[in-house]
Amino acid sequence: MVSKVRVLSGIQPTGNLHIGNYLGAVRQWAAMQEDNTECYYCVVDLHAITVPQDPKELRAKTREVAAILLAAGIDPKRSVLFVQSDVTAHAELAWILNCVTPFGWLTRMTQFKDKSARQQEGASAGLFDYPVLMAADILLYQAHKVPVGEDQKQHLELTRDITMRFNRLFGETFTVPEPRILEIGARIMGLDDPTKKMSKSEANANHAVNLLDPPDVIRRKFQRATTDSLTDIRFDENRPGVFNLLTICQSFTGETQEAIVTRFAGKGYGDLKRAVAEAVVEGLRPLQERYAVYSKDPAQLDAVLRDGAARARVVADKTLADAKRRVGLGAGADQESRVQ
Ligand code: TRP
Repeated sequence: MVSKVRVLSGIQPTGNLHIGNYLGAVRQWAAMQEDNTECYYCVVDLHAITVPQDPKELRAKTREVAAILLAAGIDPKRSVLFVQSDVTAHAELAWILNCVTPFGWLTRMTQFKDKSARQQEGASAGLFDYPVLMAADILLYQAHKVPVGEDQKQHLELTRDITMRFNRLFGETFTVPEPRILEIGARIMGLDDPTKKMSKSEANANHAVNLLDPPDVIRRKFQRATTDSLTDIRFDENRPGVFNLLTICQSFTGETQEAIVTRFAGKGYGDLKRAVAEAVVEGLRPLQERYAVYSKDPAQLDAVLRDGAARARVVADKTLADAKRRVGLGAGADQESRVQ
């Protein structure tokens, strides 16, 4: 039997998912569901609580993100979609990996330095440990490929280092994963400030176009998008506002740059903004319609996530049992861990 390529990725249930997340991650996750590929997609609620969360909101967001992933084309028959904390092996393997990860490796993580700088001593130990939990997510499924944004590159390198160290200390246990850096979304910038990447946590209401924004809100946000004082419409990286609008248009319509430039020849920024808004409204319509079905039928979402967690557990528990046996954990009373 030819073994399949395993893909794993995770997404935090915080903030509002926007078109940058969609183009950069979610749409590409959906595209990776091919015949010879086994995809695991995980809503990482344990990662979310590394910073304070309101419990009710966290649960609601976890369900919302899962429903958006389904609406965006993650097919629960072909892929395993689940919530991280529903599979207890994640926290358990993270502990074991903690004990083989040198403290010094974690102190070099730039994301921790950035995030903790604002909180100083108040930052949680969990925030410091965040990348080790991420390594556990990946290793439990023996993932070959991990599609992530550029900002997660360092965490992936750390995961590879932890994997090789564990394998060296305890014997070949885990597959060394490869990052697959996703590019397109990295180029989607904020509408209010096109020099900054579109972000989930930006306060300005006109910054991001969220996936669940109604059409009139989408139109209004594009109407207010920052451009420049020139007039011609072309792909020029030195004019970030217009460049961003054109990139968004291209990503949603699938047209070539030439076709888009020809379409807008002699037109003004008002026309451009209206056209991009329509492309996004139309592009998101099927997603929003499918989302509405899940949000009206919570039992259907429950069933999908229950099934996803059960299928994830089969794989994760087997890997965890192997790791525990190799490290010498447990009394070895159950057959599986005693048999060599
Ligand atoms: N840290 C990732 C992010 O913020 C989310 C994540 C958690 C993840 N676990 C993962 C991504 C495992 C890939 C694989 O984007």
